[in-house]
Amino acid sequence: MRSFEEFTAAFGIHYPIIQAPMAGVSTPRLAAAVSNAGGLGSISIGAGSAAQGREMIEATRALTTQPFNVNVFCHAPARRDTEGEAAWIRHVAPLFAEQGEPAPAALGEIYKSFLEDDDAFDLLLAQRPAVVSFHFGVPPAERIAALKQAGIRTMATATSLDEARLIEAAGIDAIVAQGIEAGGHRGMFDPDAEDEGLGTAALVRLLATRVRLPVIAAGGIMDGAGICAALALGASAVQLGTAFILCPESAANAQYRARLHDKAGLRTRLTSVLSGRPARGIANRLVVHGEQAGSPLPPAYPVAYDLAKRLNAAAAAHGVQDFAVQWAGQGAPLARALTAADLVRTLVAEWQDAAAAGVVA
Ligand SMILES: Cc1cc2nc3c(=O)[nH]c(=O)nc-3n(C[C@H](O)[C@H](O)[C@H](O)COP(=O)(O)O)c2cc1C
Repeated sequence: MRSFEEFTAAFGIHYPIIQAPMAGVSTPRLAAAVSNAGGLGSISIGAGSAAQGREMIEATRALTTQPFNVNVFCHAPARRDTEGEAAWIRHVAPLFAEQGEPAPAALGEIYKSFLEDDDAFDLLLAQRPAVVSFHFGVPPAERIAALKQAGIRTMATATSLDEARLIEAAGIDAIVAQGIEAGGHRGMFDPDAEDEGLGTAALVRLLATRVRLPVIAAGGIMDGAGICAALALGASAVQLGTAFILCPESAANAQYRARLHDKAGLRTRLTSVLSGRPARGIANRLVVHGEQAGSPLPPAYPVAYDLAKRLNAAAAAHGVQDFAVQWAGQGAPLARALTAADLVRTLVAEWQDAAAAGVVA
């Protein structure tokens, strides 16, 4: 399967446009609006409990009868290092002191990996969303087989050819080819492995010519011209995250929305300081502090995230937004404040204009 027509038929959608799952930013309202407009909306349940995931799935179902995607995190469970975590807490303690708060005594693994979350697996089997997507790795073969047996289509993120081959071998239906431009966490299976850092165009082309599965281009695609270009490179669909942050249906707050369009939006960067895994966003004061020469290494994902979230909560309680986590891709300044339905309509019209103008042979 290669063409976008085959992809949309297989996934039961009108347009080959996927709104990326964005933990903390995408909402049932956003996903449902995208699905109702003919794209594939996504919710991310990876950063919460199975009970919270159930609520999100039910809330999305209440707003759409169209297919939508439910995303889970398949990271290797955190390797705990008490001394390293204590060193990190000591390093960040002065930032808590500024807020008049003590630094936490210890950190926790604030959510489970899908790899060891039987409740989340049972939830997906019971709820049977049309699509389930995996980030940071893939579940064991028997779990993928059970989801497929339940009639669920599956997708997984690859940042390299090797990861794409593992996804293909695992029996998954489609590969999200995530380029270095992408906002949010890099889906690398092993965050300690060398990052090839491939851009979306090179990665999509590489996968489209080396693997048989449909490729979904993700990273830096903000408008119909980008969609047209990705399809011309051999993608069967596109996945856009940052482009949807300014939709009124997203959970982004006013400061986050404003920063996408100011100078900060032009200077997104990849950092492991906030969560323990590389992710692209607008740098905040914790990133600057944690990347200073001589800083200890941040704890493993998602243990480091526990500290970043607590620091942000402590600061936000005093009206200080310097520690907000604002993931965004390189295309941030191109994001548009449209309703999700209008954005999907605009993307389709722009894509068709670009195709008619001969951008695609
Ligand atoms: C705010 C934000 C949160 C994200 N959270 C997730 C997530 O929970 N799960 C996931 O698979 N991808 C997540 N991503 C990555 C997207 O799936 C996708 O790879 C990326 O948005 C594509 O690049 P773009 O932002 O330039 O469109 C997130 C991206 C952003 C911008």
